[in-house]
Amino acid sequence: MTTTAHQPRTTPEIGGLGHSRRRVEDARFIEGRGNYVDDIELPGMLHMAIHRSPIAHGRILSIDTSEAEALEGVLAVVTGELLAQYNLAWMPTLSGDSQAVLATDKVRFQGQEVAAVIATDRYIAEDAAELIQVEYEDLEAIVTPQRALDEDAPLIRDDKEDQDSNLCYTWESGDKAAVEAAFSDAATVVSLETFYPRSHPAPLETCGIVADVDSATGQATLYMTSQAPHAHRTVFALVAGLPEQNIRIVSPDIGGGFGNKVPVYPGYVVATAASLVIGKPVKWVESRTENLISTGFARDYYMRGELAIDGDGRILALKVDMLSDQGAFFADAQPTKFKAGLFHIVTGSYDYPAAYVSTRGAYTNKAPGGVAYRCSFRVTEASYLIERLVQNAAYEIGMDPAEFRAKNFIKPEQFPYATPTGFVYDSGDYEKAMRLAMDMVGYDEVEKEKEEARQEGRLVGIGMASFTEVVGAGHGEDYDILGLKMFDSAELRVHPTGKAILKLGVRSQGQGHETTFAQIVAEELGIPASDVKVVEGDTDNTPYGLGTYASRSTPVAGAATAMISRKLRDKAKKIAAHLLEASEDDLEWEPGKFSVAGDPGSSVTIQDVAFAAYTNPPPDMEAGLEGVNYYDPPNMTYPFGTYIVVVDLDPGSGQWKVRRMVAVDDCGVRINPMVVEGQIHGGLAEGYAMSSMQYITFDDLGNCIGANFSDYLIPTAWETPRFELGETVTPSPHHPIGAKGVGESATVGSPAAFVNAVIDALWHLGVKNIDMPVSSDRVWAAMEEATSG
Ligand code: CDP
Repeated sequence: MTTTAHQPRTTPEIGGLGHSRRRVEDARFIEGRGNYVDDIELPGMLHMAIHRSPIAHGRILSIDTSEAEALEGVLAVVTGELLAQYNLAWMPTLSGDSQAVLATDKVRFQGQEVAAVIATDRYIAEDAAELIQVEYEDLEAIVTPQRALDEDAPLIRDDKEDQDSNLCYTWESGDKAAVEAAFSDAATVVSLETFYPRSHPAPLETCGIVADVDSATGQATLYMTSQAPHAHRTVFALVAGLPEQNIRIVSPDIGGGFGNKVPVYPGYVVATAASLVIGKPVKWVESRTENLISTGFARDYYMRGELAIDGDGRILALKVDMLSDQGAFFADAQPTKFKAGLFHIVTGSYDYPAAYVSTRGAYTNKAPGGVAYRCSFRVTEASYLIERLVQNAAYEIGMDPAEFRAKNFIKPEQFPYATPTGFVYDSGDYEKAMRLAMDMVGYDEVEKEKEEARQEGRLVGIGMASFTEVVGAGHGEDYDILGLKMFDSAELRVHPTGKAILKLGVRSQGQGHETTFAQIVAEELGIPASDVKVVEGDTDNTPYGLGTYASRSTPVAGAATAMISRKLRDKAKKIAAHLLEASEDDLEWEPGKFSVAGDPGSSVTIQDVAFAAYTNPPPDMEAGLEGVNYYDPPNMTYPFGTYIVVVDLDPGSGQWKVRRMVAVDDCGVRINPMVVEGQIHGGLAEGYAMSSMQYITFDDLGNCIGANFSDYLIPTAWETPRFELGETVTPSPHHPIGAKGVGESATVGSPAAFVNAVIDALWHLGVKNIDMPVSSDRVWAAMEEATSG
């Protein structure tokens, strides 16, 4: 059932679900008292700088480190050759490929790690890194996946025995024969070829590590910018051969991750190896340029989609072909089973019987990555394609895009809904969200104004995207990273005074977990959220989990938190019965209190019970009120929404401005409505940035254009439009508190809405597509081309 808002069941003092509790972590962040990796100073700490390749593709002929080694203050210069002696020159990627830690044979992208300097301070380390001389034999740089797959293209991964082309993977989903049959019956076939350009998560804090390996005890304490500390610990144990019990990964405050802090980077490995060998702590923190040119990128998908439509405007089938640019190593962070991530959710919010998706990935001379940048694994690309395609299809068959969507939406009574590519959507009411967004924006009035504007020589466009996201990986049977099942965990300890500590396997990077996860405990146990401390990011002190990315924290660790709270409540009830000398069956629960049915004067609070758990438990019961839950979700959750954008486009310059941006989101029950709105604001700003200004490109030689914030444009408050938010609530039926994840939805849903609005303003001229970022010069060129042809 969909409602318009969740009514809190707890008082504001308890602060359970539905309360816009202020973010507790912000006090330290806004006072500049966060504790980030670069804030960590250890006695005797050394500093590391990395020498990187200036070229995109070349064979290494020689490396001369003598000048660097001679610089005063330099303790060591590490090369790939040296690492090879410890079997550390290569490491596995999260996609099961191999990646050079420091290059030994060839360099394969500009910015690749070639050598590292360890010195007494960072300035000396950086100066020495520049003194390293590397001689290369230049090889052709491959900067597009199309060129990579040419027969005469040079082989990038000649290090891999069975690799005889630059094809990185192929993968398909759906029923090809059924799709072909549907296309032969179609009244209309609509196609769209589009490119989702490479972009970068660009977190405010770059990546870094302080590696502290104690040679006496063998204990390795690694302070790392890690979105997934437990998984990283296991990868370190496997890569470096360190015993896992001796590895402690501490992920302190993180200044934004957005998927960028999921992969294991060479810098982490080299700093750890250096600390191990030298016996002193080693710090490495990237510069902004290093972060932009060498760490996990996102997107870079070339996509072609075709819709088969019958004479009544019903979609019969979808066919998609996709080619992805993977960079030099296949390092996507995504479930093992799905080579192109969850791209096959490209069927979107629509009901049709057949779909077929074929995908290929190619190695190129660019940085590896393919991270879930504010999206579930590659869902942003999928959502963009289907929402652009659907909008164009409506125009092609002469139907209003909203009515075309309404006609083809999966209807509320069809849930759970099995898509033709194998997902089972949990719940949804797509039309309700769309109609709310239309009402908020005044859809009919804008449609009318469009005509009048044209008469006056102005251009107005209205664009829409009705997306479905898929978040909350696992289920473990289908979702794993390097074989590690994607469950997550929560450990809850209620202390004798009724205060609690909640320890999680996930790791917030700004999402506000310290605030919201305490609210789940408050909801379930009635302990005020302000009495619940949330701890994350220290592998010695938290239960094993797969980490925070792809909006999985609430669907998985949030569920684990509810489950362990309920388990403790069951135990608390037994203790309450003992204290009240009543039968458990006669007890009633209201948040924070058990009372005897019919005798409300006979009651005990959860705090009384907590005290008794340690001082006066029932004779046959173990003392304490603590426990841990590992939650393997039965399914993902499927948040959705409709975004509508109105733009004013200047026909004289091609410039467009957002007049209105309405976003209606449904993420089921909202734990903290204010935090959810913050997540949506951030995601919308990123969606706007991608659609209008933000992308990384490369010249013919593979030089990265976008290696700093003058070239790679991050939107500021000045250019970011005002967002108007609306909400519907369709709880997830399988989630213990009915919540769906939300962190990524806005970035997933919004780029298509922005671009659709621009295309809407230009459709009458014959403009059907402009690839992102839709800058004014691209708009201008598209208008020129359309009108001159
Ligand atoms: O995994 P990540 O934390 O990035 O994403 P998420 O689980 O979607 O949650 C982002 C933030 O929004 C967290 O602080 C959640 O607890 C909060 N949230 C919420 O308050 N209600 C929801 N239904 C979903 C998320």
